[in-house]
This record gives sequence, structure tokens and C-alpha cells, in this order.
Amino acid sequence: MHTALQTNFLGIDLASPLVLPAGIMGLSYSGLAVAARKGAGMVTTKSFTLQPRTGHKGPVVAEWSGGILNSMGLCNPGIEEGLKEVHAFREGATTPVIISIFGTSREEFVKLARRTNRSDGNFLELNLSCPNVADEFGTPLSASQEKVSSIIYHVKKISRLPVIAKLSPNVYHIREIVSAAEAAGADAISLINTLGPGMLIDRKMGKPILHNRFGGVSGPCIKPIALKLIYETYSAVSLPIIGMGGVLTGEDAIEMIMAGATLIGIGTGIYYRGIDIFNLVNEEILRLLSDEGYDGIARIQRLEKLRE
Ligand code: DHB
Repeated sequence: MHTALQTNFLGIDLASPLVLPAGIMGLSYSGLAVAARKGAGMVTTKSFTLQPRTGHKGPVVAEWSGGILNSMGLCNPGIEEGLKEVHAFREGATTPVIISIFGTSREEFVKLARRTNRSDGNFLELNLSCPNVADEFGTPLSASQEKVSSIIYHVKKISRLPVIAKLSPNVYHIREIVSAAEAAGADAISLINTLGPGMLIDRKMGKPILHNRFGGVSGPCIKPIALKLIYETYSAVSLPIIGMGGVLTGEDAIEMIMAGATLIGIGTGIYYRGIDIFNLVNEEILRLLSDEGYDGIARIQRLEKLRE
């Protein structure tokens, strides 16, 4: 990979700033491996829970003109099996891995985090923002500053891995939430998780398309919301940000970096451009940098002119 794409994230060198985010292809070592081979600089697992979960009944994904709606229901093999997949991936690849975990309480997050201390992961991401399990577990934890703060504080006390907080866009007070995450000891922020949830209707059937009725909203329609929340987060804290939400092209990725992101997640984009999207966006970033006279992405990070 080209040196102009090299990025350092919390002391680890990455060949590209592009990241496979949680929930997309991260259920198995082969999914992680193909994303790494196709140009992702870092990969994230599906969120693992203490016990395996089968997830929601289908249909779990629906497309419309603005993006995609999904309600997977946190299907995953559970932390024990999940960490075996991470081990298998790391046997054949040097690409760093973020292990994502989902708990329903502080105690569950701490238990999961303890388990990841004996794993091949490089970073630990706390999924505080799944939009799809409100009926089982209530409002996403990241809507509450107190819950964000307490979970991060207690996980940080025991975690060997640097901790990334994955946050929801569904809040009016992102500055307070990210500041609470920083004060509690988070090492980085990842945002945005899917928006909503939302709903799509099948007119012929006269009912919601998704079996679960509601699902998290992703894709091009959420990009402006992602940019605004990344920008506000960057202004409020001094933590590195993994920015994501509707990135399909090199232009989108550069806008994320200009808003304040250090790394850029591409998830739903895979649905639009295939898994080659990582290599394509890497090439597009390089072309844009060269056209605009920058010798590396470090040069466009945190452009002061955007802060005025
Ligand atoms: C799940 C779906 C999402 O859109 C998301 O952001 C997180 C989790 C899920 O249902 O598994």
C-alpha cells in the first residue's frame, strides 16, 4: 500500500485509514480476512455477547433510495467462539483487529472485556449503541451520559486493550456524551452507529418490510449527520475518532477526515460497491491527494480552516 495512506492510531501503524466496522463480515475469520486482503487497514468483529444469539427473523435487511435498513438482532456466536475466529484470522494476517462487544449492563461489559484480555485483539470496542434490541434491553446505553461514563470507567479499570466507545447518532448532546467518555478514560471514539431505527413499508402487503418492523438506518442518507457529529466530537475532545456513516467514495472519506476523523469506517458501502470498495477508496484518496497537492492524509487531518 502507498506510504501516503499510512496512519498511526493509538500507537499502531496502519497501512490504510479505512476500517471494516462492527457488524459487517466480522462474524468469521474469513470475512475479516477478505476485507483485510482487499485494502482495509484494520478490521472489526461483529459485536460479541456473553452467550450466542441467533438474531432476528428475516427479512433483516431492506434497501430504499437513500440507503439501507437492517435489524440483524445482534446475531453472533458468543464471545468464546468469536475469539476463536479472531485467533484464526490473526494466524494468517498482520492487519490489526478491533473486538466489538455488546453487553446489557456494566457487569456484562466488564465480564466480556475481561475475556478479551486473553485474545488476539488489538483494540476493544464497546457497542453502546445497537438500535435494534430496544424491545429486549431498552434504550441504547449511549443515550445516557451516566451509563457511558460508568461502563467505560469500569471496563478501563480491567482492560488490557485500549478502549473505543461506539456511539449512537440519536442524541442532542453529543458533546456531553463524548466528554463523559473521555473523562471516564476512553482511548478513542467511534461514530456514528446506525440512525433511527426507521421503518419501510411493503405497500402490496400493507406491512413493514423487516420482520422486526424497525431497523437501523445506514448508507448515503446519513452522511451529513455523521459529518456533523464527528465535527462536534472533534471540537469537544482530544481523542482519535473512527468516523463512519454513508462513506462510498474517496471524496466521502476525505470529508470525514476533514471533519476530524483519524480513521474511516466503510460498512454499508460494501453493499453498493462490493468488497473491492476498500481498494477503490484507497486509490481515490490517493488520486485526490495528488490532485490537490497533499503528500499524505496527515496533511488534511484536522484542517484548522474548518474549525472557524
Ligand atoms: C445491529 C444492527 C445495526 O444496524 C447496528 O448498528 C448494530 C447492531 C444488529 O441488529 O445486530
